[in-house]
This record gives sequence, C-alpha cells and structure tokens, in this order.
Amino acid sequence: MARPRSQYVCQECGAVSSRWAGKCEQCDAWNSLVEEAVASGTPGGLGKKGGRSAGLGGGTSLNLVELTGAADPPPRLQTGDAELDRVTGGGLVPGSALLIGGDPGIGKSTLLLQTAAKLARRNTGREPVSVAYVSGEESVDQVRLRAERLEAADSPVQLASGTAVRDILTTFDGPKAPDLLIIDSIQTMYLDTLESAPGTVAQVRGSAQELIGLAKRRGTALILVGHVTKEGSIAGPKVVEHMVDAVLHFEGERGHPFRILRAIKNRFGPADEIGVYEMAGDGLAAVTNPSSLFLGQRGEGNGAAPSGTAVFAGIEGSRPVLVEIQALVNPSPLGTPRRTVVGWDTGRLAMVLAVLESRCGINFASQDVFLNVAGGLRLSEPAADLAVAAALISSIAKQPVPGDTVLFGEIGLTGEVRPVPLTPQRLKEAEKLGFDSVVAPFPPARGKTKRVRSALNEHHTQHVTDLTTFLGVSRRKSESA
Ligand code: TYD
Ligand code: MG
Repeated sequence: MARPRSQYVCQECGAVSSRWAGKCEQCDAWNSLVEEAVASGTPGGLGKKGGRSAGLGGGTSLNLVELTGAADPPPRLQTGDAELDRVTGGGLVPGSALLIGGDPGIGKSTLLLQTAAKLARRNTGREPVSVAYVSGEESVDQVRLRAERLEAADSPVQLASGTAVRDILTTFDGPKAPDLLIIDSIQTMYLDTLESAPGTVAQVRGSAQELIGLAKRRGTALILVGHVTKEGSIAGPKVVEHMVDAVLHFEGERGHPFRILRAIKNRFGPADEIGVYEMAGDGLAAVTNPSSLFLGQRGEGNGAAPSGTAVFAGIEGSRPVLVEIQALVNPSPLGTPRRTVVGWDTGRLAMVLAVLESRCGINFASQDVFLNVAGGLRLSEPAADLAVAAALISSIAKQPVPGDTVLFGEIGLTGEVRPVPLTPQRLKEAEKLGFDSVVAPFPPARGKTKRVRSALNEHHTQHVTDLTTFLGVSRRKSESA
C-alpha cells in the first residue's frame, strides 16, 4: 500500500513544493509553507465517488462553431443597488461566481446583507427572488442584530450560520437552490475530505471549487466574501481569483465614511468600474454624486482656497470624479527630507518633484513634502500629475490656486504636459459642479474629431512652465520662498 504523501503549499501564492523550506521560492514569502496531505482522490468529489477517469480516451468530440453568430448577453439578476449593478456591469449573472475582498471591518458583510435584504424583498413580477445568506463568521443572532440595525429584518432572506461545505451542498444542491447565495466568508469554509485547517490554500481552493460547481449546476448567482492580507491581496490563494468570474474590492480609509467598490476583474462587464458608498449609522448608502463628496467643504465660505490645494478632474471607471489634492511643503529639519504620500503613488511624486526642479527651477531638496488625496480616495491616473504639480507649487510659493479651477494632464520627463483620455467628460463634470476655469493640455483637432469645447475658461498648458505662469509663480519668487 502506498504511504500517504504530503506536500508543502505556500499560503501566500499557492506554490507547491515537495520539501519544507523557510522561504517560498516562488514569492519569497517567509514561513508561508504549510504541510498538506495529498488527497488520494481528486478534490471536488463530494457528490460522485471516484472522481474523473484516469485514462483520457473515450471523450466526446467538441462542438466547433464559427466565431460569428448570435451571442446572447447573459441574463442579469439586478440587485436594485445602483452602485453594485453598475460595478458588476448590469447586475449579477445567474450561474456565475463573484468574489468580494476587503479589509476586515470595511463593510463587506453590511453591504451583502443589505443587498440580500433588498433583493429578497423585491418581487420580479413573476416570481420572488430567493436569497440565502450563510455566515461562517457570525452567529445567526449576530446577523439578526445587524439586520435590525439596517432595517432589513423584515426581509425574507434565508439565513444560516455554518462552515461545512458539505452541509451547504446538502441544503442547496437541489430544488432549494436559491437565486442568490452569499457565503461570508470563503476563509471560514471547510471540506471534510481535506485534512488541512480552514483558511489554508487547499481548503479555500477546494471549498470555492465545490461552491462554484453548485452555482453552475443550479444557475445560482454566488457571492463569496474574501479577506484581504496585510499586503492587500485576497488572502489564501490567488487561485480563487482565477476561478471566479468577477473580483470586486471594497476599499476605504478608516476614519472616512466613504467606501469604494471597485471591479478588478469582470468576465461579464467592464473592469475598473467603481461604485461609491457612504457608511452611516444605518448602513451603506449609495452616493450618486461622488465629486460633491470628495470635494467636501470646499467652495463653502468665501471661496478663497488655501494655498497647497488643487482640484483634479479625474475619471474613476467610467465616471468623472473631482477630488482635492493637498500638498504641504515645509523646510525639513532632517538630513533626508520626508516624502509622505496618501492616496497616490510615491514614485510618481518623486518624478513630478524632479521635473519641477529641473524644468522650473523650483527647489524641493531641503523640504519635507506631504501629499494627500482628500476624502480617502486612491488615485492611479497619471492625469493627476498636473494637479499634483499645482498643489506642490502653490504650497512652496504660498500662492493659492484659484478656487474655481480644475486641472488635469500627464507630465512627461521633459516637462511637457500631455493630453489625457476622456477630456470632454472631465470638462462636463467641472461645469456641472460650478467651476469656471480649467488648466489642461487639449488634444489638437485631428481628422473628424473636433476640438473639445466647454463653457469653461480654458488655459492651455503644454509645458509645466505654462502652469507656473498661470499660478503667477516666477522662478525667483519660488526660490526665495
Ligand atoms: P462589517 O460589514 O462587519 O465589515 P466586514 O464584513 O468587511 O468585516 O462592517 C463593520 C463596520 O461597519 C463596523 O466597524 C461598524 C460599521 N457599521 C456602521 O458604521 N454602520 C452600520 O449600519 C453597520 C451595520 C456597521
Ligand atoms: Mg464580515
């Protein structure tokens, strides 16, 4: 008889090795290898004994078709939550699996319980939608308390507390399969056919596989909640991200009420779409106008903006969002001045500082630089360069950027400012929110595309020196400041 074999699986990246080592050779994580028994059968054989056949003969021939042909859009189960529907590309897809990741306490359970309640309450005309919520982290009573707080307790959601995948399959793999099944969270689920502990790569992968199989067989829309590691990726295996049809991240800063639901991957819709929520005492409320949220108290009062702030006309997903960028530049007491960034890329800040030094002669070498994107948003667009530069110059020269102005544009190493995509949408959003002027590079008219026009006062910026001119900051003034 063959001896039971074991293998070592990295809990960070899922790499398998035959020997134990202190450091994973794949991802260089320390102490991440955990011993797991090699299952004798193939995993995923809860229902049928024996698993797949060992030989590969005797299959059926694939049905080969042309690339052209009618492709029906997938049916959608609209949740009634406008933000979630937007991020998923029009609603949940029956038979598909969605993974929602996020830091502990960010509001994943709140969002899903709220969505479940809203959906279960709704009657889609013909038949009611059945929704099941299985919590592996909280007891039924705890979930009920939360539902009460969310004023959702009267909704016909089927609630259960449990962690055994076998029990979940027994309950739902049949005529009682719900239209929407929520599993909170995948890290608490376990398969009794595997020896490793819940939360390990093997368990997370195996449980996800079984649950996804259930969703596919029964046409159930499945939502899995996943925890996120310190490094910001969904804990356990990356493999789960590959197994599901869509991955959403729920993010936000502690201490800020805003939460952003971001599509990382989506087989049925656009990735990179965002939904914005505000966490209140009675749950999450969709924010239909995110710009007004991120601009905060700006514009109230006499309209004079303090120096060191600039408004960036950005695009998140398909939506324009105006955000305030704040910079503080101060003489540094340290030998190596500080560069602290919240909500933007440190490398990108270093680049903008270097360009301003070499092309505009503004010296940041002995200054501490702090940069903050107000409201807890994380920007990734290079289009924010120009607004960041404006905030930095404004802070070091103690010269406010006019409060009625938005900025956008990508800065290159030679100091040139490049046009960015979706210029008309940015302009329109700025107009809508009552801004009067814009500092940006404008793409030249080319072929059939017309020059973008807006009601705003346009200040064309082709080079960073155009920005210093606009701000009224001369070389000498900034140096003496
Ligand atoms: P939760 O949904 O439990 O987070 P996760 O499932 O991502 O771990 O969110 C818990 C936090 O949300 C907790 O700190 C309290 C806060 N909260 C509110 O502010 N308002 C509410 O109505 C609810 C239910 C929670
Ligand atoms: Mg939770």
